[in-house]
Amino acid sequence: MPPPRIAVLTGAGVSAASGVPTFRDAGGLWRQFRAQDLATPQAFHRDPQLVWEFYDWRRQRVAGCAPNAAHRTLAEMDAAVPGFTLVTQNVDGLHPAAGSCRVLYLHGDLWRVRCTACRYAGENRQVPLDPLPPACPECGALLRPDVVWFGEALDGMVLNKAVQAFRQADIALVAGTSALVYPAAELPHYTRQHGGKVYEFNTEATPLTSLATESLFGPCEETLPAWWAGFRSTYLNAGA
Ligand code: APR
Repeated sequence: MPPPRIAVLTGAGVSAASGVPTFRDAGGLWRQFRAQDLATPQAFHRDPQLVWEFYDWRRQRVAGCAPNAAHRTLAEMDAAVPGFTLVTQNVDGLHPAAGSCRVLYLHGDLWRVRCTACRYAGENRQVPLDPLPPACPECGALLRPDVVWFGEALDGMVLNKAVQAFRQADIALVAGTSALVYPAAELPHYTRQHGGKVYEFNTEATPLTSLATESLFGPCEETLPAWWAGFRSTYLNAGA
């Protein structure tokens, strides 16, 4: 009997222990900066250099950060559970750095840029970035960070795959997210709707807590490895 299918949704809290700033809790980015000045298409159109500098600053912050036990646990799950999908809101690149392979990036990737005019997109690991957004090598228009800004639509194909994963999951794990941003916050509801279980890993209650089968309060870099140890001994070693 194969182990249960697992879908995971992660947010900034999963990377907090690695030193990557979150957004809404104490010290979060949106406590220090106005998102509408830095993370919208209008902001980039108004002042591309300011927005480019903000993302350069974020990349420099993240460049020195390493995956923590939460990222490593999710990478272990990816390798051990046949029906596994990791859906992340994070753009810091720490999930693939920890070895996760089956990852859907809902909000893009700090380490990629794309053209504001044509379909060009590509990886860019330059740290620091040049002071100004470079020109697209294909059409000459400005390049921008390949992340989803407020007011922008998510990639439809990525979102459909994420919805599918949570619709089919027997178990949904929701770790390190305030569950305030949609459509990401909707995903665990699909699992509950067909009778699946939802486990929340957070340091505090969120709007998802009332939906969760169980909320494991505490740092997810501790609670996720503990949960995985119990799951593995029940479903994986049993088959051994
Ligand atoms: N372990 C578990 N949870 C934690 C930890 C930790 N070590 N540290 C913080 N948290 C929790 C906080 O309690 C909070 O609920 O992580 C959550 C972080 O919430 P946000 O800062 O709102 O980040 P996130 O939910 O990822 O934001 C969603 O909003 O700004 C946009 O695009 C951005 O992807 C982001 C989206």
